[in-house]
Amino acid sequence: MRINRKLEHIELSLNQKKRSIATGFEDVSLVHNSLPQLNWEEVDPSCEFLGKKLSVPLLINAMTGGHPQLEGINYSLARAANLAGVAIAVGSQRAALEEHSARASFKVVREANPRGVVLANLGADCSELEARAAIEMINADAIQLHLNVPQEMAMREGDRQFRGILGNIELLVKHLSVPIIVKEVGFGMSRESFRRLCDIGVRNIDIGGAGGTDFMAIEENRAGRMTMWSWGIPTAISLLEGIEECKGQANLIASGGIEHALDCVKALCLGCHLVGIARPLLKVLMSGSDKHLDDFLELLKADIRRIMLMLGAKTIKDLTSVSAVITGNTYHWLCQRGIR
Ligand code: FNR
Repeated sequence: MRINRKLEHIELSLNQKKRSIATGFEDVSLVHNSLPQLNWEEVDPSCEFLGKKLSVPLLINAMTGGHPQLEGINYSLARAANLAGVAIAVGSQRAALEEHSARASFKVVREANPRGVVLANLGADCSELEARAAIEMINADAIQLHLNVPQEMAMREGDRQFRGILGNIELLVKHLSVPIIVKEVGFGMSRESFRRLCDIGVRNIDIGGAGGTDFMAIEENRAGRMTMWSWGIPTAISLLEGIEECKGQANLIASGGIEHALDCVKALCLGCHLVGIARPLLKVLMSGSDKHLDDFLELLKADIRRIMLMLGAKTIKDLTSVSAVITGNTYHWLCQRGIR
């Protein structure tokens, strides 16, 4: 059942209608610099993540695995990550822990990307033993632990027990040998959640904000129902809450509805460490080919560099000094939450 669900997720996510919640990046404007005093060759968008160099601060975020039909997708995504020099996360490895034959579709990710940053993925309720097995399966540099309460609530067969997850994460932080990245899956996190995670020692958080893939809608759709509403904290807002709350205590990965270079750069200017993209990359691959995905990533990288030059930013770190003007709903949200 879990494996069929994975196949359905791909199809339903690719056909997902535009979400009624926007990312909030439409409320963020970067101030153009007419005198950047830089040459193209000087602009360096590379960064370091988990002790390895990335050509740009980009992560192909967790999507899939666990079925022979998904092996090809994972191989293509990992091959593209390797070529582009960006990080990649595999989808939930739960199925592979239960079924030996499901492992191949995850292992190809490390095989196609032997030296790059590869992240394991499990739900945040996993045991220490399960987390260790998932990490070992792909020789992962870190493990993403996903939080997906709204998705479970939308599923008839979903979990209803959510007590003890924070304590479990704390245990895993203490006992695992690789870093932990706690991750939302498109509903965003509030400053209160960021605080609780920082307080138990989590040092990497993927905000997984609203505005892109909507797993409540996907699950409702899978059950043959349609909802008229969307849930979650928009990505830009969640990022700003996280930056305010974590203040250097945790690296933040901005993700959720990010589709192009300008939103990547906006997120980096607001202070995230890395940008994660999931469904838009799957869409390029599934509606095109490996070559289309390679071209998309090359253009994305070149666009990030172009925008950096137009802002006068030589390095990714310089982006945090760029002036960003925040208006509209995002501004009002921040005022009411005491962040501006
Ligand atoms: C996902 N996502 C996801 N996340 C996770 O932690 N484990 C998983 O197994 C999956 N599976 C999955 C399947 C598919 C088909 C999609 C599109 C997404 C969530 C993903 O990593 C990301 O958090 C959200 O999709 C939001 O980012 P985008 O898609 O708006 O860029």
